[in-house]
Amino acid sequence: MKTSSVAELLQSDLLLQEVHLNGWVKTFRSNRFIALNDGSTIHNIQCVVEFEKIDQESLKRITTGASVSITGTLVESQGRGQSLEIQVSSLEILGDSNPEEYPIQPKKHSFEFLRENAHLRIRTNTFGAVMRVRSALSFAVHKYFQEHGFTYVNTPIITGSDAEGAGEMFRVSTFEPNKAPIDEKGEIDFTQDFFGKETNLTVSGQLEAETFAMALGKVYTFGPTFRAENSNTTRHLAEFWMIEPEVAFMDLDGNMDLSEDFITSVLGYVLKNCKDDLAFLNQRLIQEEKGKPQAQRSEMSLLEKLHFVVDNNFKRVSYTEAIDILRNSKPNKKKKFKFPIHEWGVDLQSEHERFLVEKHFKCPVILFDYPASIKAFYMRLNDDGKTVRAMDVLFPGIGEIVGGSQREERLDVLKDKIKNIGIDEEELWWYLDLRKYGTAVHSGFGLGFERLVQFTTGMANIRDVIPFPRTPQNATF
Ligand code: 4AD
Ligand code: MG
Repeated sequence: MKTSSVAELLQSDLLLQEVHLNGWVKTFRSNRFIALNDGSTIHNIQCVVEFEKIDQESLKRITTGASVSITGTLVESQGRGQSLEIQVSSLEILGDSNPEEYPIQPKKHSFEFLRENAHLRIRTNTFGAVMRVRSALSFAVHKYFQEHGFTYVNTPIITGSDAEGAGEMFRVSTFEPNKAPIDEKGEIDFTQDFFGKETNLTVSGQLEAETFAMALGKVYTFGPTFRAENSNTTRHLAEFWMIEPEVAFMDLDGNMDLSEDFITSVLGYVLKNCKDDLAFLNQRLIQEEKGKPQAQRSEMSLLEKLHFVVDNNFKRVSYTEAIDILRNSKPNKKKKFKFPIHEWGVDLQSEHERFLVEKHFKCPVILFDYPASIKAFYMRLNDDGKTVRAMDVLFPGIGEIVGGSQREERLDVLKDKIKNIGIDEEELWWYLDLRKYGTAVHSGFGLGFERLVQFTTGMANIRDVIPFPRTPQNATF
């Protein structure tokens, strides 16, 4: 007999027919009702066991977490809370689960506890929903770009360049830590290392993606990136996934349009295709918010927030305007910001970004034209000589979700910038070549995939939207 999934059965027309399914026991009550889940949907299917049809030994082994194989008849449910159920005709225990030891009991667990049990937390309703939404989002990302004429590029994971110039990278080496060869200057001799030079895990695929955009026009990457920044926040991971489109002949305005259209489109996709999981996550958040003091509660539910972003335009504001708003804001005057805003030129902190989005504009915001001094070397210098064509998309509850820019396409200007920040021109010879042979205006951005999943699922901590989070002092599993 064909094996059906719970998702298939709950929407099927197999009424009164014999069906077969496998799954894990969520709960077993009154020695009769199994709530069975197989991960295909947030919903369980109720399987009703008749005493006569099952031996006492098996009955005892139906415990939370056990895996079972069930054959039975799909019938309309007698009980409340579900429309269909299965009258079990035969049941086989595939794998026992000792109820004294199984950590995932049918009760509320803290997210901290579940993080320590990340190999099992996927079996909870919340993590099942989050991971299915994550998968759908990832499909929507590819769907969007493939339908808009973009070519998918796999940029290298191991690189010899530091795209962001921030120097917070994980080294890749085959040297034994204490046996690395030393050169005449007394420094480690990387010419003898595996690649014959210093190499790291990539912080961004952008520079390589640019080479592809300058040949294929519209490209995107979607892969893992690594940052060795020691940030223990709810928005930072040491290993995260980034989506980076790069487009030739597109300026910053086009880049802003693309980021907005892209984000609203993938959110629209999950709103349409993940209804049950989002409804569950929406309820979960409402319950969680009830435990908070009134002032800290969010004004909108998760679903309202998602619809709000899809239905409204992002507000576009220059960095200079934003600084004016922040300088004159209540929290700044009342010294409520941890980092008070005094003058033009400072980098914005998460508290400022969130003030602009959540309190001032009350919608997603795209900030553009940042001071050159706080942004990466590859961004195009404006005619004022002090700002660059950078943009950050800021989201409620998240802060920065996208960072992007129009790239410096003028060889002489780029060379100057590289020199000023002390990078050796030789190292970026291939990047400079793009400006020598058929240079053109081009732009792109990076979207942190986990921050998007965070926003979509309403999870407060980024560690709860990636299967196995890597953060400082933590790489179990
Ligand atoms: O702003 P970032 O550093 O931009 C770049 O890397 C550019 N090269 C992108 C480009 O133009 N192609 O990073 C882009 C996004 C951020 O806006 C944020 O969403 C996410 O990546 N991000 C992180 N997400 C999780 N953990 C971290 N440690 C992150 N650092 C950045
Ligand atoms: Mg950034």
